Amino acid sequence: MFPQHRQAFRAQMQDGDVALFPGATLANRNNDVDFPFRQQSDFWYLSGLNEPDGLMVFSKGINGAPDDALFVLPRDKKMEIWNGVRLGPEGAIGQLGFAEAYNLADFDAWFGDLLSKAKRLWYGLGQNTILDQKVIQMLAGLRRKIRLGMEPPHILMDPRPPLALQRSIKSPAEMELMRRAAAISSEGHLLAMAQCQPGTYEYELEALIHNTFRRHGSNDSGWSYPAIVAGGNNANILHYTANDQAVKDGDLVLIDAGAEYQGYAGDITRTFPVNGKFNPAQKEMYEVVLAALKASTEIARPGYTHEDIHNKSVEVLVDGLLQMKVLSGSAAEHIESGSYKNWYMHNTGHWIGLDVHDVGRYKVDGVSVGLEPGMVMTIEPGLYIQADDETVPAELRGNGIRIEDDIHITGGDPEVLTAAAPKEVADVEAACQAERIAPPTLETPIAS
Ligand code: GLY
Ligand code: MN
Ligand code: MN
Repeated sequence: MFPQHRQAFRAQMQDGDVALFPGATLANRNNDVDFPFRQQSDFWYLSGLNEPDGLMVFSKGINGAPDDALFVLPRDKKMEIWNGVRLGPEGAIGQLGFAEAYNLADFDAWFGDLLSKAKRLWYGLGQNTILDQKVIQMLAGLRRKIRLGMEPPHILMDPRPPLALQRSIKSPAEMELMRRAAAISSEGHLLAMAQCQPGTYEYELEALIHNTFRRHGSNDSGWSYPAIVAGGNNANILHYTANDQAVKDGDLVLIDAGAEYQGYAGDITRTFPVNGKFNPAQKEMYEVVLAALKASTEIARPGYTHEDIHNKSVEVLVDGLLQMKVLSGSAAEHIESGSYKNWYMHNTGHWIGLDVHDVGRYKVDGVSVGLEPGMVMTIEPGLYIQADDETVPAELRGNGIRIEDDIHITGGDPEVLTAAAPKEVADVEAACQAERIAPPTLETPIAS
């Protein structure tokens, strides 16, 4: 799929164009320990190279220049004994299908020569300051030779917006990976539901989930973002990641956790009772959030916009807040004034793909983007009632509920990628009471 992605980007280039993309570099954690390597998403999407410090070049209609070229660290037996096997230029051609590939050390001379023949350069400034400096110096150097007949490129274009549009429509091959990321993510949630008991620490649930992600082949750390495991009132901290408290009998626990598979993200939130049984107030509040999720999912199809999805959830949540006597009066006025934001303060979804909050436009000229087949988004309504919120009925306080699915927009009905993670009240309660241990194989079926 990577050569196809390159081909699709090159189709948007004109004769005389050169494009340059920097890969991610290792980030230092402490002293001589680095964080696990995670490739930059655009670079991964186009190259399939999972090594640091790569450089990728495309060209079009320039005499003698290849369609694409990759610059990587050379094979080096001694270095590979210490730091792991490298692909090398041979592998870049043989395994990743590049037309040409070279050692990184050869980049400056090679690229300087190509740039001297280009009319326009596609390059995203601000991602790699060292490379930014190099490109600026190369362009300045070429300008100094204008009297010698040099015609340096004078148009600099950002490749990220067209790439974002390209990435926002997933191919069938990408969908296979997203389905697997969703299936692995679902299994993590199933296991946490089954093993949670009063007194379990939030980090134990986190560990169970991350263990599930890794054992099913998820990338490096296993996750697409750090897990939120929030018992009771902790669920009312939207970005809670301390995960260091024991969960309590009678409380809910909100888990927002997703696996990353071959670079593609899952993103699931489920909220379930610590003791396996919702109390009546929790159940009522949960059913409101679930109804919002279902109503928004129903319109996740062409003909609706991203904003329609949010507005539909807001409508259902406001009706629920009225029904639960959190609000009184007219739904339309609360929607107009935004008073519901005390209990629902975030958006209802985002694009998802190689980045959990994926690239892609939300508005064009101020108008919400229409949904198209191949887009994948989350839908994640919630209600958050602080333990000390004296404006609401006492039995609702201290509960935070969010339910989040990953949805593939198709030409017809939406495909719920995360359907295997239970969300109906009866199914959640059954999953909480199940005798489940970590399965050795992925049991969640992967639809195709
Ligand atoms: N887990 C990040 C999000 O739900 O947006
Ligand atoms: Mn999300
Ligand atoms: Mn999430």
